Amino acid sequence: MKKQSILFVCLGNICRSPMAESVMDRLLAETQLSTEVSIDSAGCYGYHEGERADARMRQHASARGYKLNSISRPITTDDFEKFDLIIGMDDNNIADLMRKAPSAEAQKKIRRMTDYCSAHTVDHIPDPYYGGADGFDLVIDLLEDACSGLIKQLSTRQKE
Ligand code: 4NP
Repeated sequence: MKKQSILFVCLGNICRSPMAESVMDRLLAETQLSTEVSIDSAGCYGYHEGERADARMRQHASARGYKLNSISRPITTDDFEKFDLIIGMDDNNIADLMRKAPSAEAQKKIRRMTDYCSAHTVDHIPDPYYGGADGFDLVIDLLEDACSGLIKQLSTRQKE
């Protein structure tokens, strides 16, 4: 089976999508799918290009055993070619991705992160940037739920 590639996308690529990448990285290792699936993250915009993940997100991640290594970058047209799935965190991300996609074929790769959740009934991963500490923990809770669902879907496909 062809190796799958997944791009996680949020607004600034310093909070939600780097966190999604780290949660997914751990789950892929635990399920021995690391060699089958490649992952990356990007932002809809490049305001924070070249920066490490937000210090608050890194701190909350670290408290739960995650390390955030990614450096912020904006999504490119090439990403729509390169990745099999492009997963946005909220309505704005999805709308930006639909607008930036270079073709109808590329638009078909766009997904919503919360569609993979099973323990939480939510329709977006809330942007924690302007909020308090609870928002960062909620991001991790929701992403752990969504990434587990995504892994389940990928492992089913892997067996097909
Ligand atoms: P993210 O969070 O999209 O989860 O990385 C944000 C990061 C930066 C800004 C907003 C949200 N900002 O306005 O700079």
